[in-house]
Amino acid sequence: MSEQPPVLIVGAGALGKLWAARLSGSNPQFLYRPQHSAGMTRYQRLDLAGHSHHHAIPGSPTLELGCPPTAVLVTTKAMDARSALEPLINVLPPTVPVVLFQNGMGSQQAIASRWPDHPILAASTTEGANCPDRNTLVQAGRGETWLGGLTEAGKAIAASMAARLHTDDSPVHHAPDILYRLWQKLAVNAGINPYTAILACRNGDILQAPLFQGTIQPLCQEVSALMTAEGYPGDPTELEARIRQVATATANNLSSMRQDVMAERATEIDFINGFIVTQSIHHGLPVPVNQMLVAQVKQLTHQ
Ligand SMILES: NC(=O)c1ccc[n+]([C@@H]2O[C@H](COP(=O)([O-])OP(=O)(O)OC[C@H]3O[C@@H](n4cnc5c(N)ncnc54)[C@H](OP(=O)(O)O)[C@@H]3O)[C@@H](O)[C@H]2O)c1
Repeated sequence: MSEQPPVLIVGAGALGKLWAARLSGSNPQFLYRPQHSAGMTRYQRLDLAGHSHHHAIPGSPTLELGCPPTAVLVTTKAMDARSALEPLINVLPPTVPVVLFQNGMGSQQAIASRWPDHPILAASTTEGANCPDRNTLVQAGRGETWLGGLTEAGKAIAASMAARLHTDDSPVHHAPDILYRLWQKLAVNAGINPYTAILACRNGDILQAPLFQGTIQPLCQEVSALMTAEGYPGDPTELEARIRQVATATANNLSSMRQDVMAERATEIDFINGFIVTQSIHHGLPVPVNQMLVAQVKQLTHQ
């Protein structure tokens, strides 16, 4: 392995492979699940023009303590993020930034309150990538990333971390209020992902479905009331327009939740509509549409 201190990527899935390719000049290394053995992850990346690039990224199930990483990017699904960090974080030097890339909300706050003295940051990205098989990464769309600190130590280094990860092809911006960014993405995902999963369809197909037409208005009212209670701007009419616009612009896409259901994997519903339900209960706000969507998605995957 190279002498240069690595950038550690926890989660060698679609987003992890995308970042490993992007950081190929910064000695990226994967941290695998404990049951995996050390070795190279080799894959072919198909870029947006359909050109093929080959990557070989070293990885290990344990942190090489002799050479601590300069940063840790966590690219597991939301339900795995905290347990993936648990064996690592107490042996990491306390100054190493940890950047969380999970969709939805809830896992980021849990990690920040578990390790309040570490530089914990969160990112919200519009990048799109998927792995049709373990050895292939398909870049599905060009996107941008916003990054901001969750803990005080994270906030102090967020601007420099964003600059470090930024490239002209894949811009990374500093977002001083990253929670608001996460809220905005969560609100749109809450109005698209569960419908695609329940209706077994692509993003654009939800717009004509009676389930969507009959519940999108009250859903947007529930989400907007919660955002307002949490101190963020929440306007149900604007939110509904944004959901319709994103569903139209991504009409042919299969949402990640739909893909998880198709592959019989657990979905991130607990961190999207499930997060809305839990937070609303704290505020005493009724959320029957979100509760119905959570229950129906969970039935699909027996979660
Ligand atoms: N893909 C995208 O385009 C995209 C875009 C925006 C946001 N996101 C968000 O980014 C996150 C990751 O998405 P993804 O599509 O990359 O998911 P993914 O392809 O399922 O990758 C997750 C990876 O994490 C690994 N993992 C799980 N637990 C681990 C542990 N304890 N230690 C080490 N590795 C562990 C998994 O290993 P196994 O394969 O062994 O399970 C898998 O390789 C999600 O929250 C997603 O919503 C993704």
